[in-house]
Amino acid sequence: MINRVSPETMAEMDRLSRKIKERNDAIRESGAGPLTACVKTFGCQMNEHDSEKLRGMLKRMGYDIVPDFSLGGGNLIPDVVLFNTCCVRENAEDRIFGQIGAIKGAKKLKPEMIVGVCGCMTEQDWAVERIRKSYRHVDMVLGTGNTYRLPEVMAARIFDGKRTVGLASEDSVPEGIEADREDRFRAYVTIMYGCDNFCSYCIVPYVRGRERSRLPDDIVAECAKLASEGTKEIMLLGQNVNSYGKGLESVDGTEKTDFAKLIRRVCSETGVKRVRFMTSHPKDLSPDLIAAMAEEPKICAQLHLPVQSGSTSELKRMNRKYTREDYLRRVAEVRRALPDVALSTDIMIGFPGETEEEFLDTLSLLEEVRFDAAFTFIYSRRQGTPAAASPDQVPEEVVKERFQRLTETQNRISREKNEEMRGKVVTVLTEGVSRTNVDRYTGRTEGNKIVNFTAPDSAKVDTGDFARVLITGAQTWSLEGEFVESTD
Ligand code: 5AD
Ligand code: SF4
Repeated sequence: MINRVSPETMAEMDRLSRKIKERNDAIRESGAGPLTACVKTFGCQMNEHDSEKLRGMLKRMGYDIVPDFSLGGGNLIPDVVLFNTCCVRENAEDRIFGQIGAIKGAKKLKPEMIVGVCGCMTEQDWAVERIRKSYRHVDMVLGTGNTYRLPEVMAARIFDGKRTVGLASEDSVPEGIEADREDRFRAYVTIMYGCDNFCSYCIVPYVRGRERSRLPDDIVAECAKLASEGTKEIMLLGQNVNSYGKGLESVDGTEKTDFAKLIRRVCSETGVKRVRFMTSHPKDLSPDLIAAMAEEPKICAQLHLPVQSGSTSELKRMNRKYTREDYLRRVAEVRRALPDVALSTDIMIGFPGETEEEFLDTLSLLEEVRFDAAFTFIYSRRQGTPAAASPDQVPEEVVKERFQRLTETQNRISREKNEEMRGKVVTVLTEGVSRTNVDRYTGRTEGNKIVNFTAPDSAKVDTGDFARVLITGAQTWSLEGEFVESTD
């Protein structure tokens, strides 16, 4: 049963937010200055967007948001620090516990400071226990499904001095949280939460719960509102967007829908100019979606399609439910419909029992598909997942050596793919001035490639503008170009 958080509950959260705001405004007016809050994000786009929602909630409570802080100076320490955590790989968890521990000293200097931990890591019982016992300076712990209750736990801490650790986890779908978005021109929009795939290495289904979709009208309304406020590009987010809509009709009495229908609605019923999405599971990529991508000009010719391995036997152990050949067929179908599509993928190295032969299958798949980009991960053993129990863990030296061969291969291919862009004129959404060179602008192509480009002063290029750019140079991770003309 999907827990669509009731409007009454959300109204109660709003009441508590306003109560905290009154208190914070009074402190501000008393001359103590504004109260500040910082949200530190670890992990994926989903978490980045969850952090935008956390910041939105904190803003509503009357906090000024600061992007970061240093533990050095007393006054510079924020009044609220939230860690939005990840647990997909072990090294992320180690880093997070390090940072939570490091803030203890800051809290000694500023005892009224509020420290919270939320996100994927806190959906694991052992992590909550560890925080409860060994990180006494943490005031509150929220899971991925109950972050909407932030005003409630903050109010309990502020007005009653109560610590909240160990709330029951929820598979919720809350509506109406105003995100404090990092970028005005590009926005993330969550379409569904959770994952039902249970890939044998992955902890996500255990920490983000079962798949549950937002209602299509709510999503379209959010996209339309963003467009009316100036957003040009939307990234629709979900762990497996291709299974969007599953279970919606029975639970909510709405007309049967799916991802292809939803994305077409976002294109036709809102003023956004570009639409992207992630992540797609190869087993669920539908012909309807491929058709929508080919027919609808607003959908970017870009697809992130995680393959994980090029070996059918390894894919079977990973519980990915497709073979190497299935994957290659899907890629061919996509390329037939969208010849210029930019393809990216995720690859995992060192999955338990991975043989040299299986690894070579992955390398040859890279050569065969020629992805524009691949995100490469070293397998990390996650407690509670089936793969963690395997006795066949691959030795570290072998994994490192394979990882090296893999990245060398992919870096060469990425560079070659970028070289193919030389001489082409592409449309770029300008993101601002280049980080590495203030005389240049930076933006992204439809394929999501970064382009650093020059433009004469007369061109009046501005953040959020579309520009046609001639590609004049290529690197592994980015392109160089020259402004040609402005465009809509
Ligand atoms: N170890 C390493 N990488 C992982 N991923 C998911 N689980 C693990 C794990 N246990 C990778 C997958 C996924 C990406 C988001 O993270 O490649 O596609
Ligand atoms: Fe993890 Fe697989 Fe779900 Fe992706 S599809 S979140 S890898 S279980």
